[in-house]
Amino acid sequence: MTLDTTSETGVTSANGGTPAGAAPRAGVPVISVRRVSKVYRFGQTHVAALRDVSLEIQRGEFVSITGPSGSGKSTLMNVLGLLDRPTSGEYWLNGREVGSLPSDTVASIRNRHIGFVFQGFNLLARATALANVELPLVYAGASRAERDRRARRALRAVGLGERMSHKPTQLSGGQQQRVAIARALVNSPTLLLADEPTGNLDTRTSEEIMTLLVRLNGLGLTVVLVTHEPDIAAYAPRQIAFRDGRLLHDSGAPITPLMGETAAPAVERGPDGGFRIREDPL
Ligand SMILES: Nc1ncnc2c1ncn2[C@@H]1O[C@H](COP(=O)(O)OP(=O)(O)O)[C@@H](O)[C@H]1O
Ligand SMILES: [Mg+2]
Repeated sequence: MTLDTTSETGVTSANGGTPAGAAPRAGVPVISVRRVSKVYRFGQTHVAALRDVSLEIQRGEFVSITGPSGSGKSTLMNVLGLLDRPTSGEYWLNGREVGSLPSDTVASIRNRHIGFVFQGFNLLARATALANVELPLVYAGASRAERDRRARRALRAVGLGERMSHKPTQLSGGQQQRVAIARALVNSPTLLLADEPTGNLDTRTSEEIMTLLVRLNGLGLTVVLVTHEPDIAAYAPRQIAFRDGRLLHDSGAPITPLMGETAAPAVERGPDGGFRIREDPL
């Protein structure tokens, strides 16, 4: 996988037109999960973490997933994020069945199209904010100059332009989560997956993080958010409830998913349908 470092936008051209690509296409759902089940086995025991889940998410949607602990939310996120494979069923990402692809192809699709945000931020403790955000670009093989330029841009976009050389311990929880969001955005993903992103944050900081996610979604980024807090789920126009590995309730997509392209700030759509981060801070 290579990066188009000559382009002014810095948008990756990797996968473009190649069989390895899972680039977004007009009218094709970002996510199409078809009768997916996931069974974890150890010896004689097995746990059905997902049972016959079907779900479609269109481009530009903001979907929350709620449910009790152990109901399969993280398992679903891991499948959606190509960190884990279903035991049965199909997962189509941007119109491509990804469940049966070889793992190196899956890794490059994940790196190119999916950004993750976790409850625990998952930042490298000894590395600066800038180095943390550069990491996905290291894996993607970007040049040093390109990494630096894009990571700075991503940090400015989440309002951390003044904190780039701070390490995680020198940042508040909310700032650490902003670094993690910048890291998730730095490859201009199609899809942002956030698993309990406000789980370690106080109410006010949670609101700040949700406002940032809403803003990114308003620019067209597809967001799937797991939370057990109803007031956090309420930020999402579409709400899904899980219970015992099953989809219990789906409020359905709003008639017009948020696809705003007018408001200026942090992220704009690139020519490949992915997102690139603008210079202007939020
Ligand atoms: N790697 C794993 N190995 C075995 N069992 C797992 C694994 N991950 C999750 N589980 C089990 O699958 C079920 C769903 O877990 P999970 O998806 O983490 O739920 P949630 O995120 O909703 O709390 C639970 O019973 C959990 O114990
Ligand atoms: Mg979980």
